[in-house]
Amino acid sequence: MEGIFITMEGPDGSGKTTQIDLLKKYLESRGYDIVIAREPGGTVIGEAIREIILNPEYREMSHMTELLLYASARAQLVNQVIKPALLFGKAVICDRFVESSAVYQGIGRGLGVDTVYEINNYALGEVKPELTIFMDLDAADGIRRKKSQTDLDRMELEDLSFHKRVVEGYRQLAELYPERIFPVDATLSIEEIHSMIVNEVKKRFFSE
Ligand code: TYD
Repeated sequence: MEGIFITMEGPDGSGKTTQIDLLKKYLESRGYDIVIAREPGGTVIGEAIREIILNPEYREMSHMTELLLYASARAQLVNQVIKPALLFGKAVICDRFVESSAVYQGIGRGLGVDTVYEINNYALGEVKPELTIFMDLDAADGIRRKKSQTDLDRMELEDLSFHKRVVEGYRQLAELYPERIFPVDATLSIEEIHSMIVNEVKKRFFSE
């Protein structure tokens, strides 16, 4: 069995985690061993980098530092976790990946999408997701969902206009790369979203 690599993207509060859990169960029912990773983090080194990136006290962090830290955590995750899992034929689901950098750093911070992909190509090597699910939710709705939770991190503390740029960025990427990025309306019910994702996975990976 060949490994499969799926990434889950979307603004904060769009329900990625719930859908990852459901997708995991579905892929297990198809006989796959599953590896779930989250970004930034997913490795001991990556989690240490995550602490630096998201610490609300580090207000002086330059945008380029932020981009490179995300890419560093990603390089570690790819080499330590994702690549070996794919070689063993596992299904890897990653909670955020390179599109998060494209929209948060490339568009939100204004560093440019091309710069982000160029830098990240070094971190990724030949490891590329085959399917990227985009949970499409208006920024204000995402923030509302998150506000009910406490302890906002450094990214979540950004203002609404930043988060609007992020969502617009995701929508543009989904239009640019329709063969890989699958957008789902995140305001639908959990069950409706899951069944749309399953249909897409069946089509792409199992030719059903
Ligand atoms: P995440 O752990 O998904 O946050 P949460 O669990 O609160 O939804 O991601 C942390 C933050 O990091 C999130 O606001 C998005 C941001 N981020 C980037 O800006 N660039 C990146 O490359 C990644 C992976 C995340």
